[in-house]
Amino acid sequence: MSATVRCFILTFSALCGSTVVSGILSRPTNVHLTSFNMDLVLRWSPPAGAASSLVYTAEYNTTVIPYSVACVNISTLECDFTRLNTSIHPSIVEYGKYTGRVRALLGSESSAWVESNHITLDKDTIIGSPNISLFSNGATIEVSIKDPVFAVSSLRNVYISATYNISYWKDGQKEKAKHISNVQQNRVVLSDLDPRTKYCVQVQINTESNPHPSKPSGVVCASTTREDAPWVAAVLTFVLMAVGVALVVVLVVYRESISVFFCPKDALPQHFKEYLLAPPNSTIYLAMRNSHPPKEVYHQISILADHRTEEEGCPLEAARTTCSKQPDISVGGG
Ligand SMILES: *[C@@H]1O[C@H](CO)[C@@H](O)[C@H](O)[C@H]1NC(C)=O
Ligand SMILES: *[C@@H]1O[C@H](CO)[C@@H](O)[C@H](O)[C@H]1NC(C)=O
Ligand SMILES: *[C@@H]1O[C@H](CO)[C@@H](O)[C@H](O)[C@H]1NC(C)=O
Ligand SMILES: *[C@@H]1O[C@H](CO)[C@@H](O)[C@H](O)[C@H]1NC(C)=O
Repeated sequence: MSATVRCFILTFSALCGSTVVSGILSRPTNVHLTSFNMDLVLRWSPPAGAASSLVYTAEYNTTVIPYSVACVNISTLECDFTRLNTSIHPSIVEYGKYTGRVRALLGSESSAWVESNHITLDKDTIIGSPNISLFSNGATIEVSIKDPVFAVSSLRNVYISATYNISYWKDGQKEKAKHISNVQQNRVVLSDLDPRTKYCVQVQINTESNPHPSKPSGVVCASTTREDAPWVAAVLTFVLMAVGVALVVVLVVYRESISVFFCPKDALPQHFKEYLLAPPNSTIYLAMRNSHPPKEVYHQISILADHRTEEEGCPLEAARTTCSKQPDISVGGG
């Protein structure tokens, strides 16, 4: 019995090499908590000579929340704390200070925990590069800047006073680059440029709370065109307005000739006038013109006032309906 156990342990030790030390697994190494664009990822290396079936469990805490399990029995060498189900795990907040820890597991064996460095998200995160687009318009170039996307919150929410540092130079002369810093709006027009020249632009983000500027954007280049683009537009507008004014002047000066053209003074031919002035001879018109107004039939009505008082005429009781103060109406034939 004890011989088989001893044999098993010997075999196991031989198989797993240095990972099994008195029945306890070796710990993961290079345990490091990192943050890029406000994510929070714990990374580690396997213990030297680890078995391929080794799994890991990772946890994180904050200064106010004790360690909470994040990734359980995973075989990968990292755990992203910002991709956890927030209805189960405490959510990662932009100003939190975090620590991670990880341990290796093999069957029922487990290593000791290895704790990572601390990270305060907004201060320590590496801000990724912004994304820029250029639109050239005559001798100017408009730079449009898109902020990097954050895993938690957004650049403008975390760093309210973030500014852009825009560098631009003539293609091939980066050493003579000009810089515009403290830019807050994400659309900027570079206007002190030479026409028909290729310029290159690069942008970086500066924040107050994070000591490091963002990763620089990619270098994007665009050529300015001829300077006269706005000038041409102005001339076109002017020409159109001049044509409009000339039209109005012509209308006013020649209004008589124009009115003569539309209302000629020449008389109509006589027979045409006679035809137009001749009375119509349609039968309906004639019938209407020759008919006499119809005789109105009516009856004559006289209205006489009744001077009798209530005492003289009707008794009070019967008077209400049959005998009123209304005048009598007599109708006579007319
Ligand atoms: C998060 O966890 C809750 C509770 O267990 C579950 O109902 C929900 O489906 C999970 N959501 C996701 C996206 O996994
Ligand atoms: C993780 O693995 C250990 C042993 O390898 C096991 O006891 C435990 O139940 C596993 N947990 C989950 C959630 O799978
Ligand atoms: C920048 O934006 C453009 C257009 O929105 C997109 O095609 C490109 O992949 C983006 N580049 C990076 C580095 O995000
Ligand atoms: C802007 O960026 C340039 C080049 O990256 C750098 O030399 C300059 O110091 C920066 N300016 C500010 C205010 O960050």
